[in-house]
Amino acid sequence: MKLFVINGPNLNMLGIRQPEIYGCEDYAALEKLVRDTCASMGIAVTLFQSNHEGAIVDAIQDAYDVYDGIIINPAAYTHTSIAILDALKAVNIPAVEVHISDVMKREDFRKVSYAGMACVKTIAGQGIDGYRQAILHLEEYLNKNKKCTQ
Ligand code: DQA
Repeated sequence: MKLFVINGPNLNMLGIRQPEIYGCEDYAALEKLVRDTCASMGIAVTLFQSNHEGAIVDAIQDAYDVYDGIIINPAAYTHTSIAILDALKAVNIPAVEVHISDVMKREDFRKVSYAGMACVKTIAGQGIDGYRQAILHLEEYLNKNKKCTQ
């Protein structure tokens, strides 16, 4: 099983950025959590972070026929990007949306998620542990929905 973890703008600033909302752990801690979780489950994982919408669209397109599942935190692009929604729909790879903060309890503009419309699940408000939960969920989902090979 091969997973692709995509993180959007400003998530490279974790640990510095609004710790009262996003916590004190930095992006390296997030990467370590993802790598350790996947390693313990025998899952191959690639992580990608970009502050640029087009680069995220390119990365999703490049995932086609390469990865079995996507975990995505599009960050601010969650609430604005139809291009990321369309890319997720285009590649049709099962995806889980993660938000470190509880977006539903914040400003109204954070309550709309375009990317989430193409995802099988959303995990929010769990801190960086949300990524671990997303890996567990995606593994279970992919095992239940195995593609026929003949
Ligand atoms: C976020 C929530 C978004 O609203 C925000 O723009 C982010 C991070 C989260 O992980 O909680 O950058 O996606």
